[in-house]
Amino acid sequence: MAQKPWSGRFEGKTDQSVEDFTSSLSFDRRLARQDIAGSIAHARMLAQQGIIDPAEGDRIVAGLTEIRREIEAGEFEFDPALEDIHMAIESRLTARLGEVGKKLHTARSRNDQVALDVRLYLAEEVEGLIADLAGLRLAGVRLAHLHQNVIMPGYTHLQRAQPILFAHHLLAYDEMWRRDQMRLDESLSRTKVSPLGAAALAGTTFPIDPAAVAAELGFPRVFRNSLDAVSDRDFILEFAAHASIIMVHLSRLAEELILWSASEFGFVALPDAYATGSSIMPQKKNPDVPELIRGKTGRVAGHLMGLLMILKGLPLAYNRDLQEDKEHLFDTVDTVRASVTLMAGLVENLTVRPEAMAAALHGGFLTATDMADYLVTKGAPFRTAHEQVGNTVRFAEGQGKELWELSLTEILQFAPGAEPDVFDWLSIENSVARRRSPGGTAPERVAEALERAEAEIGLNLHEQDI
Ligand code: ARG
Repeated sequence: MAQKPWSGRFEGKTDQSVEDFTSSLSFDRRLARQDIAGSIAHARMLAQQGIIDPAEGDRIVAGLTEIRREIEAGEFEFDPALEDIHMAIESRLTARLGEVGKKLHTARSRNDQVALDVRLYLAEEVEGLIADLAGLRLAGVRLAHLHQNVIMPGYTHLQRAQPILFAHHLLAYDEMWRRDQMRLDESLSRTKVSPLGAAALAGTTFPIDPAAVAAELGFPRVFRNSLDAVSDRDFILEFAAHASIIMVHLSRLAEELILWSASEFGFVALPDAYATGSSIMPQKKNPDVPELIRGKTGRVAGHLMGLLMILKGLPLAYNRDLQEDKEHLFDTVDTVRASVTLMAGLVENLTVRPEAMAAALHGGFLTATDMADYLVTKGAPFRTAHEQVGNTVRFAEGQGKELWELSLTEILQFAPGAEPDVFDWLSIENSVARRRSPGGTAPERVAEALERAEAEIGLNLHEQDI
């Protein structure tokens, strides 16, 4: 069994149960690539600064490169006794290089090392997630484009409210996903800060060059306070919060897809590839993917709470509690990236049923507000018009008629200001067309919004054959 790098001041060996309890190797091995990249940058800096010999620096870099190859090839043995990925790699380096390997940890601590690894890991995943969100936005915009003129009921309180374009509804999600991208992108400036050089907590006696290490790793900034550098996990909290918000957005859409695919709505049909059957009821096609996305939202929000609780009350600087951040973080990354990708596939392959949406536009008096607006154009104060239309709706309901099926004489009983052109305001199409106010659902506003979204995602759907 390999010797622990910190075994010097210990006489007895670690109890097996303690080893099992404290080891993070089973999960932080995921940071191997970042750990090696950080160590290579550190070794080069040590050599450049004359802290180690240039030839030693070269040997360390070559040794680490070889270990990276071993890990990638699946040849690396992860010995649980070595506690974490940092010690596993350093021990392997020493086993390969002998005494020279033991120089790598000069002017460094696992405390600044682990903080760097996680920052490198997360920066990459965040960039990947921003791209995943672009894929989701692309799927949403394509679907909106394909069904640009489809009208559906818009809802408030889950009651039919006013007619809207289906594309307008989809573009509401595009706004959320755009904000999600912006939040993630903006947070990168705080994630890409190199903590290397803080050492254990107080800095180091060696003439290090933290900026050179940061530059080599592609991080534009270096920590400003060594205590903060090793104890700061704000960048993880921010990510967990951003991921929770993304999941909440996905969950809201998931809920709509579940409702819309139920036979009571029938607005959409889920692709077979994204649904599953029932083991007892042969007729069932269940919306498991959106249901699981909705369910996993609780898990991601739970990780945010878990992380906040880990950090609450930690005295400065490093504490082992911080090791607990990783499983929350890794699961958050995996869950949110898979959910975004699955949702993109779902949206991409969704069948839209415009007839079912059109059928739902009847019976709910969805153009009642239009009639009130019309009466306002004829001089009635809005509150009066509202009252008159309310009375008209009550009458129509009693007659089992739509507003547009009433005669002008019937309407005049309740709305004395009405004229024959009132019918022009009662049709579903005209209701949508008249909502030309900024950000409204009129076809020309939606076309503009669609073009804007396409430009943001870097697409030109008009030139593409879709
Ligand atoms: N496995 C540890 C973690 O994830 C690495 C840092 C350990 N530092 C220490 N002083 N024990 O946080």
